Amino acid sequence: MFDRIWLNAHLATMTPDAEAALGVIRDGAIAAKDGRIAWVGPRVELPDTAETVTDCGGAWILPGLVDCHTHLVFGGDRAAEFELRLEGASYEEIAKAGGGILSTVKATREADEASLVASGQPRLEALMAEGVTTVEIKSGYGLDTETEIRMLRAARRLGEANPVSVVTSLLAAHAVPPEFKGRQSDYARYVSEVILPAAKAAGVADAVDVFSDRIAFTVEETRWVFDAARKAGLPVKLHGDQLCDFGGAALSAEYGALSIDHAEYSNPEGLAAMAKAGTVAVLLPGAGYFIREEKKPDIAAMRAAGVAMAVSTDMNPGSCPTRSLLLMMNMACTLYRMTVAEVLLGVTRVAAKALGLRDRGMLAPGLRCDLALYAIQRPAELCYWMGGNPCIGRVVAGQSAEAPR
Ligand code: NIG
Ligand code: FE
Repeated sequence: MFDRIWLNAHLATMTPDAEAALGVIRDGAIAAKDGRIAWVGPRVELPDTAETVTDCGGAWILPGLVDCHTHLVFGGDRAAEFELRLEGASYEEIAKAGGGILSTVKATREADEASLVASGQPRLEALMAEGVTTVEIKSGYGLDTETEIRMLRAARRLGEANPVSVVTSLLAAHAVPPEFKGRQSDYARYVSEVILPAAKAAGVADAVDVFSDRIAFTVEETRWVFDAARKAGLPVKLHGDQLCDFGGAALSAEYGALSIDHAEYSNPEGLAAMAKAGTVAVLLPGAGYFIREEKKPDIAAMRAAGVAMAVSTDMNPGSCPTRSLLLMMNMACTLYRMTVAEVLLGVTRVAAKALGLRDRGMLAPGLRCDLALYAIQRPAELCYWMGGNPCIGRVVAGQSAEAPR
């Protein structure tokens, strides 16, 4: 006997072996046991009963969405900088003048752990309300050992206090803090030799991220941090090829990175190497939109090379102050011309791969029973509407979690 069954629903299983792209099962059923999916298939074939049977009223069920790239823990906001940009300043000019990421660093250093948790909570709730059940959260606005660890602790606390899985990434190599002004390489070494081992020892980081670009860390400095991550046994990922072709794709492939994120300027050779290494391209259309980056990721080249593509919010105060993964999914279609199937895979199965998680992202027996229920007629609606929220329920590890606490 199962613990629970959901029926009178259409399923988009997102499994690779399914005949149609989304693995659609009309009039399907899902059964859970001990927090895992125990059975998925057409309702008429359901092999057993359960104590609790939920009639989903014809809703569509997808695997709970995975937002695999956020900076949702931070202090302050950057609305004033947004106004400066409206007067003509560029994202890059503001960063070079000491604003940008560094202004959020100041506000984050001034915030204690409780206030970081409190300001992150509504952002996390907005994602959960849309059907997100797994969220990656980065540090990167502390840029010193204490604040980086505080950010990651706040992220972990958000995960413990809410019905959602939180996965963390240490992004101490995000920008050069004021104390290291003019000594970028010294800071990159400090990250590798001091901050990273401390975060590892504190058990707060699941992965290590670096911002490598012409306004951030060089390829050589990125290698130092990646080598230190390897030594610490932590997987790596890269904010790369966002503002120029900086060789990020090839570098991430060389290190077997989980993902390269942004990747607007990644070149075809780098993409081919990524496909071979299994490194995911995490596409962040909201950031491109918000900083008005005209270069789009080369989706055709990614398809041709066989690179797996994920889509994420990049929720952050500077380049993408969004609270909606659904809106990002619309942008991925409209701005990048990705197909609905690519985008839906990109926020489920491929997003889970970008986090190195093999236990979710599909509706399949044995995986975590993380579900998102939507009142829609067809899956394309999840990418079609620009605003509004058709999510009518979530299930996390087999438990209903409709209303974010
Ligand atoms: O993903 N690329 C760098 N980091 C963030 C932006 C951070 C910020 O501006 O605060 C990004 O776009
Ligand atoms: Fe980012």
